[in-house]
Amino acid sequence: MRTKHLKDPTGLLFKIIVKYQQKLSGLYWSRRMSFYLAIRGIQQGKKNRFFGKAFMRRHIHSTIKFGHGNTFRSTIPANIAGVSHRCIFGTVREGAVLEIGNNCGFSGVSIGAAGHVKIGNNVLIGADTFITDFDGHSSKPDLRHIPLQEWAPVEIKDNVFIGYNTSILKGVTIGENSVIGANSLVVKDIPDNVIAIGCPARVVAQLKPSDPNWNGNQDHS
Ligand SMILES: CC(C)(COP(=O)(O)OP(=O)(O)OC[C@H]1O[C@@H](n2cnc3c(N)ncnc32)[C@H](O)[C@@H]1OP(=O)(O)O)[C@@H](O)C(=O)NCCC(=O)NCCS
Repeated sequence: MRTKHLKDPTGLLFKIIVKYQQKLSGLYWSRRMSFYLAIRGIQQGKKNRFFGKAFMRRHIHSTIKFGHGNTFRSTIPANIAGVSHRCIFGTVREGAVLEIGNNCGFSGVSIGAAGHVKIGNNVLIGADTFITDFDGHSSKPDLRHIPLQEWAPVEIKDNVFIGYNTSILKGVTIGENSVIGANSLVVKDIPDNVIAIGCPARVVAQLKPSDPNWNGNQDHS
């Protein structure tokens, strides 16, 4: 094994550099983000890891909260898929709730909540994905420039995997264990245990666990 590595010394050197660079980045940003979140009234559990600075803006009298063991990747070295911006999480009106469970992973993901966005446990969300429960501007021409208050809740259930650069719009629920293919646009509910892809996303396959004894509640932290 060691001899194999010595045949690629620059590969070995950069493997070590990247490993420690990411460790240090995680330690540094996780500490800084604890302070950043605390002063913004954002509730978080334990062992959340930040790689780079995430941007989180909580509107007055609204809630942003997340559980334990989540990972937020906001820099290019933190995800080789290449995040084009930091993780951006925000609430935009009073009473809005953005809640995230445990052991989820986010890479340069944007989430905006005007009403209620709920992400379950063990959810993996690919680079540059956008999730919102409101349109921001009306489709009616005469109302276009009046700030829009309407919203419809979004829920991403446990163990969902969302591919790179996907958009999930208002009113959508994505069922447990489902996969959304890269570059999809989700405008309607997706059931449990399926693969859905495309613009708009449509179900193309049913999923079964490879282990029949799998109980779906493993803690990945
Ligand atoms: C959805 C996904 C998991 C499916 O993988 P898979 O089960 O191995 O499926 P396959 O690659 O065999 O593709 C099955 C079919 O779906 C099509 N397809 C797969 N992904 C697609 C996508 N994102 N958009 C459109 N079509 C897609 C394939 O072309 C193929 O079509 P065909 O049957 O007509 O030949 C995978 O394609 C994907 O999108 N992964 C996400 C990668 C990613 O974004 N990672 C996160 C980085 S941060």
